Amino acid sequence: MAPDSSIPQGPRHVAIIMDGNGRWAQSRGRPRLFGHHAGAKRVKEIVRACVPLNVKYLTIYAFSTENWKRTQSEVAGLMSLFRQYIRKEARNLQKEGVRVRFIGDRMKLDKKLQSLMDELEELTSENTKVNLTIAINYGGRDEVARAIKRMAFDIQDGKVAPETVDEQTLTGYLDTHVLPDPDLVIRTSGEARISNFLLWQSAYAEYEFVDTLWPDFSEEEFQKVVNSYGSRNRRFGAVSA
Ligand code: FPP
Repeated sequence: MAPDSSIPQGPRHVAIIMDGNGRWAQSRGRPRLFGHHAGAKRVKEIVRACVPLNVKYLTIYAFSTENWKRTQSEVAGLMSLFRQYIRKEARNLQKEGVRVRFIGDRMKLDKKLQSLMDELEELTSENTKVNLTIAINYGGRDEVARAIKRMAFDIQDGKVAPETVDEQTLTGYLDTHVLPDPDLVIRTSGEARISNFLLWQSAYAEYEFVDTLWPDFSEEEFQKVVNSYGSRNRRFGAVSA
């Protein structure tokens, strides 16, 4: 059931499309990877900012299924940045009570990165302060296709009766099956697209497109966007009270 929309409340789950790293670097005459490194620093700050705002779930789009089309050196640089981030941040995330999960098709990632991801999920599995979900090799369509494939095998094996399949059944097969739907999706850098991010889960999300490039997206701006959500009137397809 939809929550009582007359009571202003903050978003429980915020999802972010972190766009603009490349432009941020290029405007400084630096290589694109310099922007991604600056973007990683911003990730740390925004994760911390979630606690006082009572944002319990933060989901960030780090690498899409389409991002493999970038140059080999940018892709390799990003993969190395993800490994570095996990190695360097694991202790802090653990200390700060952050539970980390990864979504996306991890089978296509290199083995070292896969094992670092598994270890970080395991290490932080008891934490409850903030749930950070990092989307790597993630695409909304790919996620739905993989979910349907798994469901089809379960139907074939007699574990699921086809006539019982409904929205909830499919939701249960998604990478995000343990997460609530996002309440607010933010995209930085002035582009107003959703780029294959959480397509199924964002059916009723509010969207906020901000002009700031991701490496410049400050804690204050995040706070402002999160607070402005409280004044929105979400109706989930129903009419206002
Ligand atoms: C989009 O900006 C950004 C990405 C494809 C990478 C996002 C990655 C990070 C923020 C790095 C760190 C993440 C973690 C989890 C450590 P863009 O490169 O498309 O920017 P542009 O549109 O200006 O070219």
